[in-house]
Parts: sequence; C-alpha cells; structure tokens
Amino acid sequence: MEEKQRKQILQSLPPLLLEWYDRNKRDLPWRKDTDPYRVWISEIMLQQTRVEAAREHYIRFLRELPTVQALADCPEDKLLKLWEGLGYYSRARNLQKAAAIVAKNGFPHTAAELKKLPGIGEYTAGAIASICFEESAPAVDGNVVRVLSRVLSDGRSQDTLKKVLAEELSASYPPARRGDYTQSLMELGATVCLPSSPLCLTCPLLCVCEAKSDAFPLRKEKPKRRIFYKTLFVFCDKTRIALYRREEGVLRGTYAFFSIGREMDKGQAEAFLRLAGLKNFSLGSPLRHTHVFSHLEWHMTAYTVYSEEDAAKLTLPVGESADAPFSALFYAERSAAKREFSLPSAYRWALPPSDGDKD
Ligand code: ADE
Repeated sequence: MEEKQRKQILQSLPPLLLEWYDRNKRDLPWRKDTDPYRVWISEIMLQQTRVEAAREHYIRFLRELPTVQALADCPEDKLLKLWEGLGYYSRARNLQKAAAIVAKNGFPHTAAELKKLPGIGEYTAGAIASICFEESAPAVDGNVVRVLSRVLSDGRSQDTLKKVLAEELSASYPPARRGDYTQSLMELGATVCLPSSPLCLTCPLLCVCEAKSDAFPLRKEKPKRRIFYKTLFVFCDKTRIALYRREEGVLRGTYAFFSIGREMDKGQAEAFLRLAGLKNFSLGSPLRHTHVFSHLEWHMTAYTVYSEEDAAKLTLPVGESADAPFSALFYAERSAAKREFSLPSAYRWALPPSDGDKD
C-alpha cells in the first residue's frame, strides 16, 4: 500500500473508533477516572493478564494499597500475596521500585519521563501518558498490532509493526480525546478484532479495513519451550503443611512445596521418601498438572504425604536434585497457607483442601 493511502486510512480511524467506543466500551474498574496511580497499576496488570483475571486483583490491590506511598511501604510478602495468580512476579517488584521513586519525586507527566521508571516500557508509557495526560503517545500492544496490521494489510513482523505503527499513529491522534483513542484501539482488539474468527460484520472499521479477516498479522514460528519434569511432595501433618520460601529466580519471595527434578510413579515416590529418612507415612494418589510459562513448561506430579515426622529433618538421597533443601521447609497451619502465603498458580493446584475451606 502506498504511503499516502496508509496515512489517509490512519487519519480516518479516530472518529469511527471513538463513536464506537462511546457506545460499546466495557465498564471496567480502571476506567472510572484518570488518576495516574490507578491507571498505572491497571496497565501493568493488563500487560500479561486477561481483563477478566485482572479485574478482581485490581480492585483488591487498590483497596489494600490506595496510594503510591502505601505501595512503596508495603512489605514484600503482602505485595506478592496481592499479586498471587497474576504471574510474572517481576512486575510487582518493579511496581514497588518505581513507587519509591514516584513517592519521592512525584508522577512524571510525559511518556519520555515515564519510560525511565522500572517496569515501564514504550507501551505502558504511551498508555499512561495518553490516558492521564492527553499526550499523543500511542500504546501499541499485540491487540493494536492485530487491528492495524489487518486494517492496513501489513504483513511485517510484530516488532517492526510495533515501532512503525507507534510513529505513524502519533501523527493521527485526535486532539481532544487522546486517552479514549488509545483505549478504543485496545478495546476493538479485545472484543471485536479477535485473534481468530474476528467479528468483522460488527466492526466499525469494516469500511476501511483491507483484510476483513484474520489473515494478519502473519504468525512467526514460536521458539520451542524447554520442558522440565518435577515431582512435588506436599508434606502434611494433622493440621499443618510444609512450605519453603523461594530465594531465587522470577518466583523469589513466593512460597512453594518441596520438589524433585524428575518424574516418579507412586512406588518410586515411596522409595524416595524412605531413602530420605521418612518412616511412617501414607501417600495420596498422584495429581498431575502442567504449568506453562513463556519459555518453559513444568510437567508436575504431586503427592500429598501424610506424616507426623518433620520433613525438614530429611536428607536428600545421593544423585537427586531438589529445588530447595529439605531443611528450608517450615510448617504452616493449612488454612493459613492458603490465606497468608503467596503460592503462585504453578503450585497452588497441589494444595490439599483444608477443613476451614469454604470455596
Ligand atoms: N489492555 C491494556 N490496557 C487496557 C485497558 N486500559 N483497557 C482494556 N484492556 C487493556
């Protein structure tokens, strides 16, 4: 497509999209005002989390930490508990680092200044600057790339499109409603211009769209994920459960169950525990679960181990590799484990139900 036609199409979008957005936007908790703290938290949560999953977390997060200062002062355990279930825990850590800076210096008002804060990249800076400060700063995420690659029939790579579209869009931002324009593009991508089977017949851009289909963006081969096998041992006595605190990696500061870096069937699991020094115990049936991270997959089998002996005193048999030593384990009341400790979804599925569970 010629440069001139591309420009014309981009310039025709704001009135079409804004009119559609006014009539169709979802009622979302972060759309109630344009307070930069609130918008910032929502945009960070929405980076890798679906709107439905983010909604409840957002409400709880702001109830517990209503100001930048409250976030800056929040103990790590509480912060990670509030983040539980959202994944990518480095986002929570970066939020807190940035909050310390913002609490001291005030909230930056431009995309260029926002980008200097930890955890804020091109996209988030554009979203906050346009939504809160009416800057012509586009926020081009996967949704927006999808919408515009189709409208323009542009088959270039995601990375190229992100850069090119951010530049082109800023020239076509409508003067009065820049924040709404940013959100209308995201909203169309989230609700109409869907990854597969887009709802073209209800789309306000049908009249200008070149593709009118899911032919774009062209998909590139995803790099293969590395696969790991693990066996989890969830040690329980009558009322308590054994956890350890992860001290390294992306999940550091969260809690986990004891795990061994290989698959075991029930017989092998029993033999392993005997070798480790456990005498009287019974094993639950195996539970299986696969947790997919962006670059890895954990294929896990979990056994609940009922025993009155202290698992922290066991010894790792020679040749086995564990994610943490037995001695890192401590016991928490079972109902408290669920309420008070941040157990990422990678582990939470293996939590046996406790007597106090209502859900
Ligand atoms: N995804 C990213 N930011 C969003 C927003 N403000 N509203 C809806 N979806 C989004």
